[in-house]
Amino acid sequence: MDGGDAGRDRAAAGVDAPLGVLASCPALVDSWYAVARSVEVTRQSVQAVTLLERRLVVWRGPAGTVVAAPDRCPHREAPLSKGTVEDGCLVCPYHGWTYADAGRCVRVPSTSDTVPPPPRAHLQTVHSAEAYGLVWLCIGEPRAPIPRIAEEHDTTHRRINTPVERWATSATRMVDNFLDVSHFPFVHTGTFGRAQDTVVAKIEVEPLDDGYVGYRYEVLANNDDAASLASGQTAEVVERSMSTGFDLPFNVRSTIRYGTGLEHVLLLLSTPVDDVTSLFTFVVWRNDDFAVSAEEVVRFDLAIGAEDKRMLELVPGLLPLDQTTLVNVRADMCSVEWRRRLIALMSGGA
Ligand code: FES
Ligand SMILES: [Fe+2]
Repeated sequence: MDGGDAGRDRAAAGVDAPLGVLASCPALVDSWYAVARSVEVTRQSVQAVTLLERRLVVWRGPAGTVVAAPDRCPHREAPLSKGTVEDGCLVCPYHGWTYADAGRCVRVPSTSDTVPPPPRAHLQTVHSAEAYGLVWLCIGEPRAPIPRIAEEHDTTHRRINTPVERWATSATRMVDNFLDVSHFPFVHTGTFGRAQDTVVAKIEVEPLDDGYVGYRYEVLANNDDAASLASGQTAEVVERSMSTGFDLPFNVRSTIRYGTGLEHVLLLLSTPVDDVTSLFTFVVWRNDDFAVSAEEVVRFDLAIGAEDKRMLELVPGLLPLDQTTLVNVRADMCSVEWRRRLIALMSGGA
């Protein structure tokens, strides 16, 4: 389905307001976004997902593959997300039209089984994929692959997934925050930020591995009881060797290396529901000895995320994307570069 079809879906659903800045951008329509954990899209359940202002229905079809389509039955436009799933087939709650893999309509109960459903009864599905324990959707034509994380295929690392949360903030503000270290000593005082020098060392934005663009840096992190579970060390303050980089449009990878050889890789994923609402989830890869449970490992990162969410939900609207509205200092270099590339992408130049 292309963005134009999605626009018509909104019109059909009686949504008259023009699409927002993000939802109307073809390059963003053509990008992949994480919308749910794979384990939550079960053989029995059906979910409604709003992505770039398009309402979608998501379920797992008879072959076990995730199917996603506009949340609107082609018959009388009932919301398919209110239907039921029987043997992997989605049954519309209104007249029972039934949809199988790839959105194929396989049953129209009011019509004899010998008559095939009309061709236009089949759902216009959108691209779906599963990676890193997550379901990803692209409502247009994918302009780039799902971001790469080499540790996914490295048997010395384990992967830990976390819940998909809804944040009342723009994906643009989330990425700006995730690329920024200068807020650590102010926003993250309840977790790791207190020990950090407020002065940020000179940032050199450069290509990182696996296609990310960002910077490398060293920080001193508070290491209280909760943090020590994540760091694997007991010292009050520990040194972290970090890199933080982005993959357009809204994916951020942060790598943390401790002197002990412990690596902790985070993929921070922001999914635009609309201009000012987003889904957020993060995935962790660690080369630890599994002594600490997954729940304990991520409890600390979840607390850090809650600190960011609290701050960001106080700041209204989209992040201004032009380079003149906001005032930047040297510490903001990575966000400035991300915004420069995002604007180029959004205007069709990248
Ligand atoms: S509206 Fe879905 S079957 Fe009639
Ligand atoms: Fe933060």
